[in-house]
Amino acid sequence: MTSRLKTELCDILGIEYPIILAGMGGAAGPALAAAVSAAGGLGVVGATGYTPEELHGMIAKVRSLTDKPFGVDLLLPSSIVDTGNREDLEVEISDDHRRYVDQLKEEFGIPDPKKRRDRPPLTKDYFQQQVQVVLDEKVPVFASGLGNPGWMVDDAHAQGMKVLGLVGNVKNAKRVAAANVDAVVAQGTEAGGHTGRIGTLALVPQVVDAVSPTKVVAAGGIGDGRGLLAALALGAQAVWCGTAFLATPEAYQDSEERGEVDRWTRDVQHKKLVAAVDEDTRIGRMYSGKTMRHVYNAWSEAWERPEAPPTLPMPLQGLLVSEALQGAREAHIEELVGGPAGNVAGLIDAIRPAKTVVESMVQQAEELLDRIASPARA
Ligand SMILES: Cc1cc2nc3c(=O)[nH]c(=O)nc-3n(C[C@H](O)[C@H](O)[C@H](O)COP(=O)(O)O)c2cc1C
Repeated sequence: MTSRLKTELCDILGIEYPIILAGMGGAAGPALAAAVSAAGGLGVVGATGYTPEELHGMIAKVRSLTDKPFGVDLLLPSSIVDTGNREDLEVEISDDHRRYVDQLKEEFGIPDPKKRRDRPPLTKDYFQQQVQVVLDEKVPVFASGLGNPGWMVDDAHAQGMKVLGLVGNVKNAKRVAAANVDAVVAQGTEAGGHTGRIGTLALVPQVVDAVSPTKVVAAGGIGDGRGLLAALALGAQAVWCGTAFLATPEAYQDSEERGEVDRWTRDVQHKKLVAAVDEDTRIGRMYSGKTMRHVYNAWSEAWERPEAPPTLPMPLQGLLVSEALQGAREAHIEELVGGPAGNVAGLIDAIRPAKTVVESMVQQAEELLDRIASPARA
């Protein structure tokens, strides 16, 4: 039986339920994306950290796990350097910044990392190469998590693909809708990861009105069936959920298999997510240089001290801090474990399989629909 929650966008994307796994670098790999797609939602791989070669492999892996539609998410920031390798860019990092990171390494006892990640930094050249892979692979859905995907929409449509563009305000929503995307993802400040200033409840209907007839997906702070139904009531055609799917055994699974995080780190991340209450995530630029909501911890606090230097723009802040954070993970320094997560972390009280997260969201929303239709039975 077709779900009553099914929307026109579900038909366009070829999915059963209006639930989309948000692209989450490191956390949403092929295992999680395939599990969400197999459960009737749309799984989206957070692919920003993959080189073009790795991206081919990740796409093949999703295809080996499910024959359902899936997506790939990349960051296409508009304010970023055109080109440059790690060494070229690192010369722009001041001695003050390096000294401050050294000071923090000493304070927290962070060793140099054993494994160095020699990935190229995010530049315009680099993300254009990543997008080319997505086009060559004819991935069913492409999502841009930052910036305007307008420059690749025609090519994507020519490949039979659909394109989603994520925004945090009405101005950018209009810009991205004008670029002919298939849906605009309107993300409120509650969201985990890079995020804006406007709350989801206020943003989504304003974006719906501003970009109609372009379809809208709601994001930020949606973690159960109540949030799903509320988003549909606001005029959204689906929800884009990140934090809710972090609390699953499939999250970070591929990163663990690739040796990028170990089981201890995954377990501590899960433990902190389950323990988190509504105020435990905050916004700061100390990870990537852009405003990012994350689990507030000793690292966040260290960058808010009066003596801390101002954070650097993307991608320099990431280059500045990534090795120290890698060293902290390898040395199992629990107070420094954190990472991106949204306000909805306070709603999470258990680690459940991704399939269960999808099914329980659908079931709760369906039950609510019944209750609203027949209040006397509630
Ligand atoms: C752990 C984590 C990693 C994320 N990484 C990315 C990323 O690499 N690219 C991106 O576009 N968005 C990223 N995001 C943002 C999500 O795609 C999504 O917009 C957000 O999680 C939605 O809000 P919610 O967390 O309240 O569900 C990340 C979010 C989290 C929680």
